[in-house]
Amino acid sequence: DWTPFAFADTSIQELKDQLKDDKVVLGLSGGVDSSVAALLLHQAVGKNLHCIFVDNGLLRKNEFESVLHSYQDLGLNVKGVDAKQRFYDALQGLSDPELKRKAIGRVFIEVFDDEAHQISDVKWLAQGTIYPDVIESVSVNGGPSATIKSHHNVGGLPDFMKLKIVEPLKSLFKDEVRRVGKALGLPDDILGRHPFPGPGLAIRILGDITPEKVAILQEADYIYIKNLKDAGWYDKVWQAGAIYLPIQSVGVMGDERTYENVVALRAVSSVDGMTADWSHLPYDLLAKISNDIINNIKGINRVVYDISSKPPATIEWE
Ligand code: XMP
Repeated sequence: DWTPFAFADTSIQELKDQLKDDKVVLGLSGGVDSSVAALLLHQAVGKNLHCIFVDNGLLRKNEFESVLHSYQDLGLNVKGVDAKQRFYDALQGLSDPELKRKAIGRVFIEVFDDEAHQISDVKWLAQGTIYPDVIESVSVNGGPSATIKSHHNVGGLPDFMKLKIVEPLKSLFKDEVRRVGKALGLPDDILGRHPFPGPGLAIRILGDITPEKVAILQEADYIYIKNLKDAGWYDKVWQAGAIYLPIQSVGVMGDERTYENVVALRAVSSVDGMTADWSHLPYDLLAKISNDIINNIKGINRVVYDISSKPPATIEWE
């Protein structure tokens, strides 16, 4: 019988045998997969696991600091890298979703490589790849989804890194990863976290990215997620987030006419992200979120709720 404890025991022993005294580098994202991979490896090789957590400037509000602290509390050997400006520079003027994804993927590899080079004699690159990623990368290479979106979680390592790959979660489904994480003491706020795309808020700001738009979206998203949590809805939806639309509409504030941007809210139920239904959030909750966003965020005067299911819509807007 599969149990998370048995899996962890076996996996840690196998990792010890495989890695011995070698140094391993791993990129933490704040998500469940890379976090669980890190905990397994940490138990196997201790301080020989060097974790790198990159702030790409496209994370949720306060996410970088709070997740970094959680990792430090878990005893992980983790380095936080502020690379915000490098990402913003690379994104400047780019509006096409795939070009934005490519730019982010490229800069991430550059930043990660710079950091990996500072660890002397590192031999292994660890990745939090899970079983569905393996399947999806096969279908992406061979199927029509290839042209839909370039997910960059899988695809191996850039040539110049010359590291061997270790992927301790390669045989697990998401729910199994969560159970292993729980068995290893991963805190609930990381375990229960909604999926969040690698390119982050860059694909939730339609069109080009500026630090100002990121700051506005972070505030809107923060208000949205906080309200979902306070109302007990966060754990009932599979994924939620706010989207910044490149559309201005007329509004009125006091005696003044406003002409400001629109924020769309998205919340879906899903099992694996392949199909999804829009979540039927209560009207009262939507009303409170809308008021909180419009009354507190300068630059937003209208909020809409996305009632599209996947397919034919996707979860993200880009
Ligand atoms: P879509 O928008 O394709 O999203 O319905 C399905 C799931 O995948 C996530 N997603 C991404 N994750 N890099 C990622 O790491 C990406 O480029 C990317 N695009 C979408 C999305 O958040 C959802 O969970």
